[in-house]
Amino acid sequence: MTEKMKIQWMRSRLSEGAVGCPLFYEESLDSTNEWAKREGENGAADGSVYLADHQTAGKGRRGRVWQSPAGTSLSFSLLLRPGIPLDRYSMLTLVMGMAAADGMARVSGLPVGIKWPNDVVCRGRKLCGILTEMSSRGDYVVIGIGINVNEKEFPPELQETASSLALECGRELMREEVMTEILKSFFSYYEKFRLAGDLSLLQEAYNRLLVSNGEKVRVLDPKEPFEGIAQGIDERGQLLVARADRGGEITAVFAGEVSVRGIYGYC
Ligand code: BTN
Repeated sequence: MTEKMKIQWMRSRLSEGAVGCPLFYEESLDSTNEWAKREGENGAADGSVYLADHQTAGKGRRGRVWQSPAGTSLSFSLLLRPGIPLDRYSMLTLVMGMAAADGMARVSGLPVGIKWPNDVVCRGRKLCGILTEMSSRGDYVVIGIGINVNEKEFPPELQETASSLALECGRELMREEVMTEILKSFFSYYEKFRLAGDLSLLQEAYNRLLVSNGEKVRVLDPKEPFEGIAQGIDERGQLLVARADRGGEITAVFAGEVSVRGIYGYC
């Protein structure tokens, strides 16, 4: 039997300071993103958080499946009604990526970083993924986050690329603490994001966490793949790449369109 999550403990931590978000919990359900979207349609409040110990149909990016084993992983979704232009919603994914990296580093002491746009990685392996979905009317956004916390092994297809906080730091961590620390960081970054209306107040901190910053990357643009040196993000969250084939000319790469691979290792 897996240990029950300490929901009251989390609720009391989340009621401190500027966070104040209502937390809803289910032991097992399809996907916390789907749950949050159902609640969003029924008028759920801005800042509501949906957490499950286990998802039976966890969703990853690009239609992939996301595994969330009971008792070891962390899967939750945050519903926001940011009231900002729709073309800025995707920037929130980067805000959550920063918050996840911060929270995970604080609890574990590990050297975690961000693989643009928002995978959190440690020593070249992925620890966390984020899936942001917008309502069809654009009145709310759901940011879903899945974290490998206490997993000791992964299916063969993930063994080379995935890891967990426990495997990296050699001890089990309290999932509840990881989650509350991430949300605390998120709301403090979110305030800055709202103030500026973009990532300009967060860009510097994000670029410090970016593992490929200053490194050679390959941009897998289906129309025109190219290589260059990553130069960090701009205020909209686009990755700036100094192109090798154009004498260092800067191209801004938008996250939705292409993926970027580090050339030396997984960054
Ligand atoms: C990725 O492919 O890297 C994104 C993975 C996102 C997984 C999380 S787990 C919580 C939330 N609910 C889902 O169904 N997906 C996201």
